[in-house]
Amino acid sequence: MRLGVIVSLLLYCVAVLESDGCLENERIGLLQIKSYILSLGREEWNELELDSWVENRSSDCCVWNRVKCSNISTQQHVTHLFLDSLNSRGSHLINGSLYSPFQELLSLDLSNNDYEGWIGKDIKNLQRLKVLDLGSNNLYGSIEGNIIQDYVKFKIL
Ligand SMILES: *[C@@H]1O[C@H](CO)[C@@H](O)[C@H](O)[C@H]1NC(C)=O
Ligand SMILES: *[C@@H]1O[C@H](CO)[C@@H](O)[C@H](O)[C@H]1NC(C)=O
Ligand SMILES: *[C@@H]1O[C@H](CO)[C@@H](O)[C@H](O)[C@H]1NC(C)=O
Repeated sequence: MRLGVIVSLLLYCVAVLESDGCLENERIGLLQIKSYILSLGREEWNELELDSWVENRSSDCCVWNRVKCSNISTQQHVTHLFLDSLNSRGSHLINGSLYSPFQELLSLDLSNNDYEGWIGKDIKNLQRLKVLDLGSNNLYGSIEGNIIQDYVKFKIL
């Protein structure tokens, strides 16, 4: 009983500590996405769009451009990522592993990016994902059938 109370208190403290903005692993995950996007071609447009995504522990990633978090006060998980219309030069791959830190993600917009295919973990382990927008890319015919089957649980726009 007493241990249970202590554990609850500890969990409460952790929740309170984390209540100030986004979760650390999600902040790091976003920075990995940023460096991947910039590695595909350091276009000025991309740098400007992701300018608010800074390597600073006290920066709340929930207020970063193109990011939306749940507004539950105790745990601010990233719920929406609007990563459309970036990297317009050349063609490249979606790295699915980059999205695995975002377990509360509801909506992922990767449209209009000239993506040609998929590498890394696929995103079916994102249990809450409801909207996956892959529109205006060059994915058709290049994604293997089994991955497409995983996609059908999502609303593909
Ligand atoms: C980090 O972010 C905090 C809060 O936004 C800000 O006050 C501080 O100046 C930033 N530090 C650096 C080194 O940019
Ligand atoms: C926060 O959540 C409430 C209840 O779900 C919703 O009505 C409100 O619009 C949300 N606010 C923001 C800024 O997302
Ligand atoms: C894909 O993302 C993962 C996680 O950040 C990384 O470890 C891996 O090197 C990336 N793969 C490529 C080909 O960029």
